[in-house]
Amino acid sequence: MNAIDLLLAQHREIENLFGQCKKASGEDKLELFHAIADLLVLHTSIEEEHFYPAAATGGIPEAQVREALEEHLLVKRSLADLLAQDAVDAEFDAKLQVLEELVAHHVKEEEDELFPAVESKLSKTRLRELGAALESMTTELEEEEALYERVQDVDELARAAPFSQEEPRPRS
Ligand SMILES: [Fe+2]
Ligand SMILES: [Fe+2]
Repeated sequence: MNAIDLLLAQHREIENLFGQCKKASGEDKLELFHAIADLLVLHTSIEEEHFYPAAATGGIPEAQVREALEEHLLVKRSLADLLAQDAVDAEFDAKLQVLEELVAHHVKEEEDELFPAVESKLSKTRLRELGAALESMTTELEEEEALYERVQDVDELARAAPFSQEEPRPRS
């Protein structure tokens, strides 16, 4: 599958889960929230591991990729904050709303700006290769239990993002 198509499909899945979660209550709401959290961790991880580095080495301005990474960090901080809540109450709902808005803003920028730019810079073959890498990492992460627990150390995640490493990443 083409990398962009795979990422777009995950964006729609995330939006769909937010819609369901907002309508649910109690245990169901919490379960749906954990599904959102897992998928957000999975999605940001595959973008950070494969897609953003490919964008950065493929001619996308570094500032644009860095902005996307900073938005991921905001999403993860918001997620960590929600995961620390001990009740599904009005405060939880307000935080969930803010998370949804952060994600919507980021998704819109990717779909309006970053993805079209990547599509114009990378060859079809490269996009398919990248899609395969994203797909296999997705399968790998889907097998992990409580993936969302990874956001508990957000600062560690921030340091692991591309550009914060001393050695340049090898092309994948
Ligand atoms: Fe992203
Ligand atoms: Fe994305």
